[in-house]
Amino acid sequence: MNKIFSGIRPSGKLHLGHYFGAIKNWVALQDNPESEQAIFAVVEYHGITTPFNPKTYHQQVMDSVLDYLAAGINPEKSLLIRQSKIPEHTELAWIFNTITPVSWLDRLPTYKEKLEQAPKYNNVGLLDYPVLMAADILIYKSNLVPVGEDQMPHIDLANEIAKKFNHMFGQTFEPVKAFLAEGARIMSLQEPTKKMSKTGDEALNLMDEPDTVREKIKKAVTDSGKEIKFDEENKPAISNLLTIHSLLSGKEIKKVEEEYDGKSYVDFKKDLAEVVVGFLKPFQEKRKGFESNSDQVEEILTKSEEKAKIIASSNLAEIKKKMGVF
Ligand code: TYM
Repeated sequence: MNKIFSGIRPSGKLHLGHYFGAIKNWVALQDNPESEQAIFAVVEYHGITTPFNPKTYHQQVMDSVLDYLAAGINPEKSLLIRQSKIPEHTELAWIFNTITPVSWLDRLPTYKEKLEQAPKYNNVGLLDYPVLMAADILIYKSNLVPVGEDQMPHIDLANEIAKKFNHMFGQTFEPVKAFLAEGARIMSLQEPTKKMSKTGDEALNLMDEPDTVREKIKKAVTDSGKEIKFDEENKPAISNLLTIHSLLSGKEIKKVEEEYDGKSYVDFKKDLAEVVVGFLKPFQEKRKGFESNSDQVEEILTKSEEKAKIIASSNLAEIKKKMGVF
């Protein structure tokens, strides 16, 4: 039996990368009979390690909650929580800080990347980010974490920390495994060698209006040559668009290639835009339903957070006892 945990930073609008890299698998795992516990979080304390706007931040958190619900997180089967409402996460992160060498953290690619993006925003929280992530997972003794492949170094680190804790204070944590989405590394529409992230025209957001989708796909960069062929090395842009088409239409990439044999990039892009618009429509309708029912959403959160708190505080008590902190 598995205990599932995952989270997303509320640092903007959710896009197709989040959906295919993570949330689609969350939904699949919550429905899997081998899952005995599934907890999905909006990780606000991770989101504040990079520049953010305090005036809009609360709304971003609530927007993420609506996105999770619209994407199919079912509160009957999963707990949907805000990380900051369960302080045991940050308390365990502090404990883990005391057994994590700095050298395990300052070599991580995500730390270097984020520092490059905002050099002035160099803070201890950014360095410590993966320790809090380990705590998010291990406070619930979770063992299966559905994430995109960019998160692998963090999962490895969570395992290193768990092992070290077990070694120093006695067996407490089981190994953690990542649950990776197949072929789901969605790349930027503007720079297809980089992953899709939250800015401008490079991402297709789950809440984008049909005309915005059409415009973004029209503007998406393409490769030299005319052929619509999957070749990640030489044709990263068209390969990414083919991946998106295939994931949304459910057709194999080969089949899509055949359909567009001899056709132009323009034709392909036009049709792809309609595939995306059609895919987003039911999601957007469902989201509007939750949006107009904020009491129900509040209740889902409160109930989930109460239950999560019970698990977290019981595990934390055991952890502290093992360390003589009680
Ligand atoms: P974050 O907020 O950067 O991204 C959330 C999830 O979406 C996946 N993802 C993608 N997958 C495929 N293609 C893309 N273009 C793409 N962009 C994002 C990410 O792999 C991730 O699974 N550290 C985490 C948040 C976190 C967490 C946790 C995750 C905090 N605590 C505990 C799991 C367990 C993060 O920054 O994800």
